[in-house]
Amino acid sequence: MNQKQAKELVRSRLSDKRYEHTLNVRKMAVKLAKRHGADEDRAALAALLHDAAKEISKDEMRAIMKAHPEYAEGGEERPTPVWHGICAAILARTEWGVEDEAVLSAIACHTAGKPGMSKLDKILYLADMSSAERDWPGVNKLRKLERKDLDAAMLMALKQTNDFVLSQDKPLDPMSKAAYDDIQAQVEARAAKP
Ligand SMILES: [Fe+2]
Ligand SMILES: [Fe+2]
Repeated sequence: MNQKQAKELVRSRLSDKRYEHTLNVRKMAVKLAKRHGADEDRAALAALLHDAAKEISKDEMRAIMKAHPEYAEGGEERPTPVWHGICAAILARTEWGVEDEAVLSAIACHTAGKPGMSKLDKILYLADMSSAERDWPGVNKLRKLERKDLDAAMLMALKQTNDFVLSQDKPLDPMSKAAYDDIQAQVEARAAKP
């Protein structure tokens, strides 16, 4: 699937508002890919598809994960907000002809992150949080930080998301905490190097 096909697909699956968000995420993901030396085409494709399963029902999402347990990453046991990324990655792989594992990974983990995130995973996660229409307090700080340092930006973004989830008394996906701890450990290890 190329970018043009992905764009047509999501146009047919998403509301105007979410389609606009998707295009903004693509723009930001390409910008970050350019800046940090990642593949721009992969970043664009992952961004276009990241929310492609966001407007289907929970029952449908559950059915998709049940049908493909090998790709569902135990998704059913995880909080429902992360389901749409997992499902978009499963549909991309099984129905939309996306074979690129790097793209599929970025789509699947765009909501919660995971330990061992690749550069592309981080770029999509950050682009989703800092796309042009986002206006949460601190988003400008994140935009500045992500231009300079993907890991520092990831720590800020994950902390922001995790604190928000906890403040709402919602369950925190253990993957999010694991993602944070993993990046934190890497940053500390780098800082400790002589
Ligand atoms: Fe999403
Ligand atoms: Fe999104």
